[in-house]
Amino acid sequence: MHNILVLNGPNLNMLGTRQPEVYGSTTLKMVEDLCISHGQSLGQTVTHFQSNHEGALIDAIHAARGTQDGIVLNAGAYTHTSVALMDAIASAEVPLVEVHLSNIHAREPFRHKSYIAAVALGQICGFGAQSYVMALDALAAHLAEKGAG
Ligand code: DQA
Repeated sequence: MHNILVLNGPNLNMLGTRQPEVYGSTTLKMVEDLCISHGQSLGQTVTHFQSNHEGALIDAIHAARGTQDGIVLNAGAYTHTSVALMDAIASAEVPLVEVHLSNIHAREPFRHKSYIAAVALGQICGFGAQSYVMALDALAAHLAEKGAG
């Protein structure tokens, strides 16, 4: 059994009503429920946390050190700005998969840069809520390969 933290950043609490033409009609609650049930099928215990505050996200990443086996992170707009989040991930030493609902590389140029990508196992974007499911699969494969339980 692996413990996985699904961490969502700013404005993702607005999913479902926020720019549905970009992000779809899936709510954050639906994303979280999907992660919990898909995680169960992979032998993962999924907990989730969302915050609009950079410091709260950093605290959650620090708390994951030694307590979580993996993190799925959608840092929202902090993806493109936050050296502090990047440093937190590097210091936590917990394998992390970066996710986005939208394909950030097909959008405005300022979204093409990710500070998270440099410290992530990899990045999955463009598949809506399925991006999270793929990230859980990727973590399961990574942890199995490492023989971590
Ligand atoms: C997002 C993409 C970001 O550029 C944006 O700021 C978000 C959501 C996504 O999931 O597609 O808030 O992370």
